[in-house]
Amino acid sequence: MNKYIAAIDAPIKNTGQIRLHGEEGFAGMRKACAVTAECLDALVDIVKPGVTTQEIDDFVFKFGHERDAMPATLNYRGYTKSCCTSINHVVCHGIPNAKPLREGDIVNIDVTFVVDGWHGDSSRMYPVGAIKRAAERLLEVTHKCLMLGIEAVKPGARTGAIGHAIQTYAESERCSVVRDFCGHGLGQMFHDVPNILHYGQPDQGPELREGMIFTIEPMINLGRPHVKVLSDGWTAVTRDRSLTAQYEHSIGVTADGCEIFSLSPKGLDCPGLT
Ligand code: MF3
Ligand code: CO
Ligand code: CO
Repeated sequence: MNKYIAAIDAPIKNTGQIRLHGEEGFAGMRKACAVTAECLDALVDIVKPGVTTQEIDDFVFKFGHERDAMPATLNYRGYTKSCCTSINHVVCHGIPNAKPLREGDIVNIDVTFVVDGWHGDSSRMYPVGAIKRAAERLLEVTHKCLMLGIEAVKPGARTGAIGHAIQTYAESERCSVVRDFCGHGLGQMFHDVPNILHYGQPDQGPELREGMIFTIEPMINLGRPHVKVLSDGWTAVTRDRSLTAQYEHSIGVTADGCEIFSLSPKGLDCPGLT
């Protein structure tokens, strides 16, 4: 099968071919990711000790509702919330609940809004009040991993160059890269090809081409890389209960690099870090 297809010729289902989007797709992604980024900006003032993750979820739903944006996670494969809230040793897919956040927690909030059919997927880490230096360092390392992965994106490179950049830096900082979850193609679908691994070698994976749209969303642990999924079927935690962090952007490959669709309009891409 041909591995690439012009997005306008492709049905909205997983065909196994990597879509190459034009201006229409890039415009759609800009709009969807702008709503997601504005919501993640607004959450900076919401996240504090005592707030429950269900209250965060309610805020995300309302924020979208007022802007004709639908949370993609709502009723996605049996998931019933508008975002994921992953605290401390929770790697990803934490389910919002009635438990209040506590001073010193670090929480990832992952939001995907669908606007006019396009998916804007992004997440950031939020410190809850004052956090320990070790936690702050993990957030710094993880955000830098995301940005180094993004810098590796250009036509002609392979997806493995992204993972290689992330893994090399994470391990140089004595952190580990989660292997069990990866970034993904997206657009009019939430999760599509290609998989974007956050580890590996530059000569691995499909070649990047102008028009490809995908996420990069490294999960970095202070301890060992291994994770397990709890009995709720969603919550992924580090097996050694070590602290873990994640940041995510949706990007599009351009002629000479990439466009980050989900950048914060207020410069709040790393809330709480200086
Ligand atoms: N937003 C997540 C991602 O980055 C996916 C969440 S799916 C859910 O791909 F069902 F867990 F919400
Ligand atoms: Co994603
Ligand atoms: Co996400």
